[in-house]
Amino acid sequence: MDTQLDEIAPDIYRLSTYVSDANLVFNQFLVDADEPLLFHTGPRALFPLVSAAVERVLPVERLRWITFGHLEADECGAMNSWLAAAPRAEVAHGAMGCAVSVADMADRPPRPLQDGEVLDVGGRRLRRIETPHVPHGWDAGLMYEETTGTLLCGDLFTAVGQGPAMTEHEVTGPALQAEDLFGATCLTPATGPTIRSLAELRPDRLGLMHGPTFAGDCVAALRDLADAYERRLEAEGIWLHGFVPPGSVARD
Ligand SMILES: [Fe+2]
Ligand SMILES: [Fe+2]
Repeated sequence: MDTQLDEIAPDIYRLSTYVSDANLVFNQFLVDADEPLLFHTGPRALFPLVSAAVERVLPVERLRWITFGHLEADECGAMNSWLAAAPRAEVAHGAMGCAVSVADMADRPPRPLQDGEVLDVGGRRLRRIETPHVPHGWDAGLMYEETTGTLLCGDLFTAVGQGPAMTEHEVTGPALQAEDLFGATCLTPATGPTIRSLAELRPDRLGLMHGPTFAGDCVAALRDLADAYERRLEAEGIWLHGFVPPGSVARD
């Protein structure tokens, strides 16, 4: 295994490791700014590879911010390894996720971020956007780098297999194929609207955790994904409960 390093936007690096057992790539994003920031820590097992890849850009001990979307091993499993390697680093995560889990699990107190709060890291600005249960996890959220228009969208558009670092080919089809395999997305009435609201950011590129960085029509891709999940939610409801004609359910 090795970790590939690609600059997917000015001063934003994609660190990508293909894990053949899972047939997935695991990506982290390093923002090389005055206060360097990492989005996704990777699991503990990948820490030696990923930290060596960071060293190709900057000394690991310079890292200032350790961030991720939601609690899961590939998102934050190695956070304490990073805290140990970078003495000035703080974990920054959504306020609710900090209160419920990260304050207990992290070796140093985390920095809670409010929904919409921007971390100005000097040269780059990362906005935390809460997306509860989208694609999964109560504490789920994303980061949007405002100066380059890069939406670090975590598990959204997860695809299997290896691919290029960047693509303009459509990413919704591969994401729905992976969804058929994993069923990883919480299908709720909020899923579609939450993903559709991300399109309003009008990002120029989407940094996927499990897939290439997408540099095509990001607005259309997010809307397509939202539409697809809404169709699946509707179909799932029929499968679970039988068809319920609109308006036939009495409300208390
Ligand atoms: Fe996840
Ligand atoms: Fe993931």
